[in-house]
Amino acid sequence: MGAVQARMETALQRFLPAAEIAPERLHRAMRYAVLGGGKRVRPLLVFAAGELVQADPARLEVVAAAVEMVHAYSLVHDDLPCMDDDVLRRGKPTCHVEFDEATALLVGDALQPLAYQILTEHVLADDPGAQLEMLRTLSVASGSRGMAGGQAIDLASVGKTLSLPELEFMHIHKTGALIRAAVILGARCGSRPDPGAFDRLGRYANTVGLAFQVVDDVLDCDASTATLGKTAGKDAAQAKPTYVSILGLARARALAEQLRAEAQAALSTFDATAGRLRELADFIVLRKF
Ligand code: IPE
Ligand code: IPE
Ligand code: MG
Ligand code: MG
Ligand code: MG
Repeated sequence: MGAVQARMETALQRFLPAAEIAPERLHRAMRYAVLGGGKRVRPLLVFAAGELVQADPARLEVVAAAVEMVHAYSLVHDDLPCMDDDVLRRGKPTCHVEFDEATALLVGDALQPLAYQILTEHVLADDPGAQLEMLRTLSVASGSRGMAGGQAIDLASVGKTLSLPELEFMHIHKTGALIRAAVILGARCGSRPDPGAFDRLGRYANTVGLAFQVVDDVLDCDASTATLGKTAGKDAAQAKPTYVSILGLARARALAEQLRAEAQAALSTFDATAGRLRELADFIVLRKF
């Protein structure tokens, strides 16, 4: 994990506009939002899925950077006063607190196209059609039928009690979609796996994507602000429906454990090249931050 995290820090440094280039304040804010923090789970998933298909790490690095840029922008916007109104992210003041709201809005406006810019500036697949399909995958995962849609449902659900299927629908979209895209895009960087293998990988991706947000809900209630690097207890304070508010802490934890088993089962027929994916399913569920 450390090796991929370090590699990504360098790659992201390089892909982001230098802080000295005009407009300096926006570029400083973009770098502030992306660099020097975060677990880099989505890049780790890109690299892990790439290992399954012997993908070129140079391709994986570009894809991982693009997914992380979309993720980082989603956090900047998630923290805005009009959304979750958070002041702490990755152990630092949130982007709109450190800079200002308009700049935080623009950071998102700029990071999202930068992700697609780098995806078009590098060869990522053996034929251009396959690469176009990769851009489409990230677009769908981050748009109204993916992350942005999930965030809309999240905001519309404040103060409501959702049914379990409704809650799952929200989580699969706001968080699962981008996690899924990380896995799929990593696998697309290499030799094409057979359709059966791709289905199993898709099942793994869906499962860890949901598990990731179930654990995020648990940690919000269960961990401290100091370990999370973001304000703990916000979900209850803001009356957000979560797996903890609907199922209680013990059953939410049990669900995460069940999803971990399902993710591992989806990988059972793969050989040792799925080792990193197996480790990441464990990390996503067992993590403490
Ligand atoms: C937090 O994501 C927001 C969710 C989608 C649940 P991460 O827990 O991956 O945040 P960083 O990137 O490590 O800061
Ligand atoms: C955010 O979910 C999901 C995103 C798409 C950013 P949360 O609102 O629970 O994320 P945190 O807890 O603030 O990181
Ligand atoms: Mg939120
Ligand atoms: Mg939030
Ligand atoms: Mg949360």
